[in-house]
Amino acid sequence: MTNTRFVVHAPGRVNLIGDHTDYAGGLSLPCAIDLGITIEGIHQPDRLELQSDALEGVVSIGLDSTNTIATLEPHWGRYVAAVAQEVRPPRGFTGTVTSTLPTGAGLSSSAALEIALALAMEFAGSPIELALLAQRAELAAVGVPCGLLDQLSIVFGRTGHAMVIDFADNAIEHVPFPENLDIVVVHSGQERQLADSHYAERRTSCELAANRIGPLPAATIADTNSLDGETQRRARHVVSECERVRQAAAALRDNDPITVGQLMTQSHASLRDDFEVSTTVLDDLVTTLHATPGVYGARLTGAGFGGCVVALCDRGAISNPNSITGRGWIVHPSDGARRTTL
Ligand code: GLA
Repeated sequence: MTNTRFVVHAPGRVNLIGDHTDYAGGLSLPCAIDLGITIEGIHQPDRLELQSDALEGVVSIGLDSTNTIATLEPHWGRYVAAVAQEVRPPRGFTGTVTSTLPTGAGLSSSAALEIALALAMEFAGSPIELALLAQRAELAAVGVPCGLLDQLSIVFGRTGHAMVIDFADNAIEHVPFPENLDIVVVHSGQERQLADSHYAERRTSCELAANRIGPLPAATIADTNSLDGETQRRARHVVSECERVRQAAAALRDNDPITVGQLMTQSHASLRDDFEVSTTVLDDLVTTLHATPGVYGARLTGAGFGGCVVALCDRGAISNPNSITGRGWIVHPSDGARRTTL
């Protein structure tokens, strides 16, 4: 509590495979990335005052006025208030948010902001508590009943490693990411609006299916045959996606990018046809990337409905990721969120 200046950083994440599995207790294979959100500030007694290089307006809230989340303006102040309600910080700060992470692109900009804010507010609990806190803050701030994919990836990231997360018990296995491969992320140009995007509807369908056939990660495709229509398709995605994550994790451990790439492309088809969270722009981008020499596979990443596509390729195969849609990045598996006191 003696230092008054601070810097905190929370990375974004890219999910290599395993989307819409977290809230069903399934599996994912993400990594934290070297794009993220940094907050630099100075502590002060009783207010939280923030400006941002990417988001409009100045957030200014008293430590004791966190009960007005739903109506707070500017809109991003709702994240600040929701995190403050969770952390109950002992003192305030005045600071600046800088971001290299595109917002609304499927790279977890909101979870990164929430986790950076919690660290700036001197959250002193365990890493898993930090992840759970950010998940609750997301629900309180914008009403999205998200799983823990984003928060666990951001908190537990490790340089040079992807992670296999089992959401049945939130167990994390760090898997070295091969040095001869690149992860390329390309923005589709379609901004994704999670709250507007039927995310909660998809989650409800999965819960309905699990009530009928038991936990989806343990179910088989044959089990899903007893379900009908939309519920069956949603369940079939989760069941098949969990199996793809198991196989992709094994292939990554064996440095077998051909298999990982094939599984990524199958994952996209499942998200498109069974889970129905893709768009034609994302589909076309996946096709373009797939036809690029040196690319093993590509898929939408995150919730879908726009945002980014992730591709796995040979190192240097896509030397200018901006050349495809105008916005792209070669990202590297990176360390998790941290606080650096000046
Ligand atoms: C969003 C949510 C996550 C997860 C993904 C889809 O990023 O925040 O919890 O459900 O979508 O895999």
